[in-house]
Amino acid sequence: MGWGDLGVYGEPSRETPNLDRMAAEGMLFPNFYSANPLCSPSRAALLTGRLPIRNGFYTTNAHARNAYTPQEIVGGIPDSEQLLPELLKKAGYVSKIVGKWHLGHRPQFHPLKHGFDEWFGSPNCHFGPYDNKARPNIPVYRDWEMVGRYYEEFPINLKTGEANLTQIYLQEALDFIKRQARHHPFFLYWAVDATHAPVYASKPFLGTSQRGRYGDAVREIDDSVGKMLELLHDLHVADNTFVFFTSDNGAALISAPEQAGSNGPFLCGKQTTFEGGMREPALAWWPGHIAAGQVSHQLGSIMDLFTTSLALAGLTPPRDRAIDGLNLLPALLQGRLMDRPVFYYRGDTLMATTLGQHKAHFWTWTNSWENFRQGIDFCPGQNVSGVTTHSLEDHTKLPLIFHLGRDPGERFPLSFASAEYQEALSRITSVVQQHQEALVPGQPQLNVCNWAVMGHLAGPEGPRLLPRRHRPPGATPEGDPRGPHRLHRRRVPRGRIQGASASARAEGSTWALRVCLGEGFWGPSGAPGRARCLGSPPKGCEVGPPRPPRCAGALPAGSGFPAQDRRDRVARSVGLPGVPKLNPRGPAASLLVPSASWY
Ligand SMILES: *[C@@H]1O[C@H](CO)[C@@H](O)[C@H](O)[C@H]1NC(C)=O
Ligand SMILES: *[C@@H]1O[C@H](CO)[C@@H](O)[C@H](O)[C@H]1NC(C)=O
Repeated sequence: MGWGDLGVYGEPSRETPNLDRMAAEGMLFPNFYSANPLCSPSRAALLTGRLPIRNGFYTTNAHARNAYTPQEIVGGIPDSEQLLPELLKKAGYVSKIVGKWHLGHRPQFHPLKHGFDEWFGSPNCHFGPYDNKARPNIPVYRDWEMVGRYYEEFPINLKTGEANLTQIYLQEALDFIKRQARHHPFFLYWAVDATHAPVYASKPFLGTSQRGRYGDAVREIDDSVGKMLELLHDLHVADNTFVFFTSDNGAALISAPEQAGSNGPFLCGKQTTFEGGMREPALAWWPGHIAAGQVSHQLGSIMDLFTTSLALAGLTPPRDRAIDGLNLLPALLQGRLMDRPVFYYRGDTLMATTLGQHKAHFWTWTNSWENFRQGIDFCPGQNVSGVTTHSLEDHTKLPLIFHLGRDPGERFPLSFASAEYQEALSRITSVVQQHQEALVPGQPQLNVCNWAVMGHLAGPEGPRLLPRRHRPPGATPEGDPRGPHRLHRRRVPRGRIQGASASARAEGSTWALRVCLGEGFWGPSGAPGRARCLGSPPKGCEVGPPRPPRCAGALPAGSGFPAQDRRDRVARSVGLPGVPKLNPRGPAASLLVPSASWY
């Protein structure tokens, strides 16, 4: 979602009355940033309080490469990282993630292994539908079990844009709040993805927005947030619940005009380190504690939610590592402003830094000429000469500096000769030097991909391993610390998987996953699927479109997930609400929309 997507941020059609009200009842942060212009790294940063370069959500195999976790990525959130829900447990919190996880999809990265007590959602985004030959559809989980796949048990109609997912995610959130509110402190991470292309909404919302299908999706999210806040009031826990709304990256302008949001006055969008890529709507709500109707000009970051949440729970962040998140409570409760830098990374490269009102670009880049000529444009309709460049331009010797107050659109670089430039440069340089000298980069997680790790995590009756003799040479995911052979020495009998503990089950299914390494998936009844991977997996992930998988043959739909079981587990039907009427003269309150909402 983009900075300009909410009524309170000036979106002209004023279609977010609930979020606007949330802002009016709480605090609006106009200067709030994601930790990266892309989803996975930003989410990893949110849950660890650390920049992606520290927690491993970056790459080293191409300069300034944006990387995330599609199905074939081998890496994910390292065990050494301490996630917010893990830490909150110490204070008795029960945690649930609803929606998109995106911190790795192999068993060791499962959210329930990283502190969450419950999960309903998917390890990935709802891309697809895929052919189920080379690439399976993305699975959807309830806790340890796969309950279906997008486009199969969880339909998304690409023609009409209809999907019930936001309603399902809303029900999951409401159920969790009802179950926990009276008994335990709770942490709900509501990570919906309706505004990610292909955007979707449920029928009652489709066609109701002035803004097309994207607007329909925003309206459904807005309505859902309204229902959650209402429930907190009904349960009499509103004054004891801190709620934050934001997004993991700016609107993806490549999807414009039908499926893209608005980044307001800011330059470019998702994937870039211009303001449109990382400046986010952000709203904080805590009745009785955060005074109503406030605007804070604090430079904020999605990583601050980590530190702030710990502070609210009476906990301190881990001391054995660098934490980038700030405790925002002084800003939230006393209106204080704290000095802090914002670092804009693409992959391994520090592209820009903001300090106060000044932003210095050390590198500029949108995307390559090659991609641009194919019609991929991160800055449609915007061309700032020498700034929105299509080659990676090095300004480290003489950074481009903008004053974000006078020039939020980053169009008028300060004159190199001006006193203002010199003064800003010297302040920013010293902060950047400190940052870089102390920086200990994490082990990069997103360099290596392998077709074999796709679509893992079958149900409890999931696939078995192929006998070892089927293992083709060189068919092991690179970078797997367990090495090439271990998997194939083990055979997981069906009974064992069924009766095993939850974690063992997930392990079992991963093993199965990897069977595809070279030989094929197992089909619905335990019979081998017909897919056969003919070549060895790619050695690494490269910039640009992935190489076509060398697989042939048909993979049975939902392979690895018995058909009988599938029918039994189809998502429950959700009673859809009527669409609330808009009041165009309603409050122009304020607030943000997320991929990530917080409770
Ligand atoms: C959404 O749910 C309604 C009501 O249960 C159902 O009629 C409709 O087919 C569902 N739509 C999709 C795309 O799943
Ligand atoms: C942007 O404008 C500059 C200067 O006019 C021009 O050289 C460049 O090709 C333009 N870029 C695009 C993508 O149109």
